[in-house]
Parts: sequence; C-alpha cells; structure tokens
Amino acid sequence: MKGYETYLAEVLIEEDALQSRIDELAVAVSADYAGSDLLLICILRGGVMFLTDLMRRLTIPHAIDFMAVSSYGSGARQSGGSVRISLDLTASIENRNVLLVEDIIDSGNTIASVLELLKTRKPRSLKVCALLDKASRREVDVPIDYRGFTIPDKFVFGYGLDLDEYYRNLPFIGVVRPESVSGFD
Ligand code: IMP
Ligand code: MG
Repeated sequence: MKGYETYLAEVLIEEDALQSRIDELAVAVSADYAGSDLLLICILRGGVMFLTDLMRRLTIPHAIDFMAVSSYGSGARQSGGSVRISLDLTASIENRNVLLVEDIIDSGNTIASVLELLKTRKPRSLKVCALLDKASRREVDVPIDYRGFTIPDKFVFGYGLDLDEYYRNLPFIGVVRPESVSGFD
C-alpha cells in the first residue's frame, strides 16, 4: 500500500472542523440523555474513530457495545442493498436507550436494516447519530437524529472510513481521486 497522498484528491473536512462538530454533537447528546441510561452502539469498523471521540466528550454515564454488518465487499463501491450481521451485540438492549453511532449513511440500506433488527429487541428508545450524510444517494428513508455533516456524492476516506480497509487512521475526511483507484474495482 502506498501513502494516502496517492489517493487523495482533496481534504473535504479538516481535523479541526471534525473535532469541533463532534464537540457540538456531544453537548446535544449529553443534554438529551441526561438522567437516562444510554447505550451507544457502534457499527464496526467505520464508526470506531467517531465513537471514541464522541464518548470522550459525553458528560453523562453511558455504556458501549459493538456490532458489525457488511453491505460493501472489499473493492466494491456500490451498496448491494442487503446487509449481513457478522458480529452481534454482547448484551440485551431491551428497555435501554440506544443510540446507533455510524460513520456514514449513503443509500441508507445498512442503517435501515440495523434499525429494523434492533427494533425487534424492544429497546426503550432507538436513535441514530451519523457523522456523515451522503443525502443525495439515499434509497431508503432513515431518520438521522444527530448529523455531523451533509457531504456531496463523492467517495471519501479517513477518520474511520476506509479505502479498501486502509487509511482509517487519518484524522481528516478526504475525497478519493477516482483515477487513482481505477485498478481497485
Ligand atoms: P449504505 O448502506 O449505502 O448507507 O452504506 C453505508 C456504509 O457504506 C457505510 O457504513 C460505509 O461503510 C460504506 N460507505 C458508504 N460511502 C462510503 C464512502 O464514501 N467511503 C467509505 N465507505 C463508504
Ligand atoms: Mg461502515
């Protein structure tokens, strides 16, 4: 793997902008869930960076759990529309206030399937916190209760989001240079 610079067209969201928006989201979540038992559910792997930065800023007690789903095969850039649960939660969510933490909502298929599944487990409340919203690509209507940024229809990477599993560690969101990845698909 080459350095990320090979694949970077432009930085879409700088580290400072990400961090200050996450500050704002954490203030809102802390206020809305004050006095109630909060469970953050992170969808692996893309949501990890966002989860850890968000939870560090929450001023209320909360627990975390993880689940993994797949809708994109490595190398593919289109959502298949169907989602597979590859890692389930460790604990029951019955009667708990669940906030799903996602990196990006694109077609909406992933989060719609996850919401449908989790609803059957009878949480007290179920909301969505997404860092990025590629709104113009939406195929299914999904409620986004906390939204970091609405972004254009471009393939992005960094800050949890991968380019074929690499570069999740970058502290910013970058746009992929399409000609640089033509060999990937
Ligand atoms: P959806 O089911 O189409 O909403 O897809 C959501 C998932 O697709 C996200 O959780 C990401 O893993 C992946 N995804 C969508 N757009 C991008 C992108 O621009 N960069 C990296 N991953 C993406
Ligand atoms: Mg993801």
